[in-house]
Amino acid sequence: MKLFSSYPLGDIELNNRLVMAPMTRCRALGNTANPLMGKYYRQRANAGLIITEGTSPSPNGLGYARIPGLFNQEQVKAWQQVTDAVHKAGGKIFIQLMHTGRVSHKINLPEGATVLAPSAVPFSGDMWTDEKGLLPCSEPRAMTAEEIKTTIGEYVQSAKLAIEAGFDGVELHSANGYLANQFLDPATNQRQDDYGGSMKKRNRFVLEIAQAVAQEIGATKTGIRISPHGSFNDMSDYPELTEQYGLLATGLGALQLAYLHLVDHSALGQAKPLAATTEKVRNNFRSAGGGAIILSGGYEKHRAEVDLQSGAADLIAFGRPFISNPDLAERMDQDAELTVPDDSSFYLAGEEGYTDYPILAGN
Ligand SMILES: Cc1cc2nc3c(=O)[nH]c(=O)nc-3n(C[C@H](O)[C@H](O)[C@H](O)COP(=O)(O)O)c2cc1C
Repeated sequence: MKLFSSYPLGDIELNNRLVMAPMTRCRALGNTANPLMGKYYRQRANAGLIITEGTSPSPNGLGYARIPGLFNQEQVKAWQQVTDAVHKAGGKIFIQLMHTGRVSHKINLPEGATVLAPSAVPFSGDMWTDEKGLLPCSEPRAMTAEEIKTTIGEYVQSAKLAIEAGFDGVELHSANGYLANQFLDPATNQRQDDYGGSMKKRNRFVLEIAQAVAQEIGATKTGIRISPHGSFNDMSDYPELTEQYGLLATGLGALQLAYLHLVDHSALGQAKPLAATTEKVRNNFRSAGGGAIILSGGYEKHRAEVDLQSGAADLIAFGRPFISNPDLAERMDQDAELTVPDDSSFYLAGEEGYTDYPILAGN
């Protein structure tokens, strides 16, 4: 099966085409990785590629409780133990850089940090805080032109630290309603400067980050995740979306990024992305010079193989199945039964529902 064949991604060789999708797990006490996280990722090193949970490149992007950051030396050292553990087990690992933007509560941010967004449009949802439980998200402040520059610089610095920490590359999180996605969407980006007001200007923040990060660490080590038509975190749909994401994909392809990772959250109850958009994005990215296409959302072995065989995808990302099946690649290869994940423990602190899922004998 193609799913279990190796794949050259940038400068590295993946053992198979299964990718562990990025998943926030909220075990990073003090916003720093730890040995428990090392154990969790090591258990899952049978994936061809692991993409870590969303990790903030800035103190301002730590909107959720207990998510990790990567902007200081202590965090670099802590992540080094994780990348070492995965590499020793024969795996490959990219870190997902996620700045939460307006999806945030200031209680979750370190002192001195600010809830920032393209425009001062609050997110209507609630946010968990360990101190006070669920609270309405904080009102964001619109970023100044200077803060946009600083934030792009934070992504670049964090990508540099990622390489120092031993990661094989970086995935820029431009999906699911976080800061980069907030710039793409006209409902959350109401700017009338160089970063808003037209499709091209709304794409600019993402393209500038991708370009600057690729320049710093190499395009072969840079991937990106997008979720056209996704409604998570109140992202909107609008008539010119297909055209805008087509332009974006051309720009990202021209940077020769290692991969474009497409999200389809219809398995999580959201609308199915328009096929016209997905096809345009995929074709534009590839024909402009981009690398692999990763598809994600609701996959099982059979559908994964169908999409690999048809050429729709080069790699397939699995999310929830990797939470409850640390040895997912081996189980799928053996057609073994899969354990069902318990969603009540997705975001708890500690080992429960994290490192205690069973591994089949012999795996
Ligand atoms: C617990 C949990 C945490 C998630 N955190 C992230 C995240 O940090 N970054 C991201 O891009 N997607 C995140 N996602 C979305 C997954 O990467 C994936 O797209 C989604 O689970 C659908 O794939 P699946 O049907 O294989 O689970 C998360 C999903 C779950 C279930």
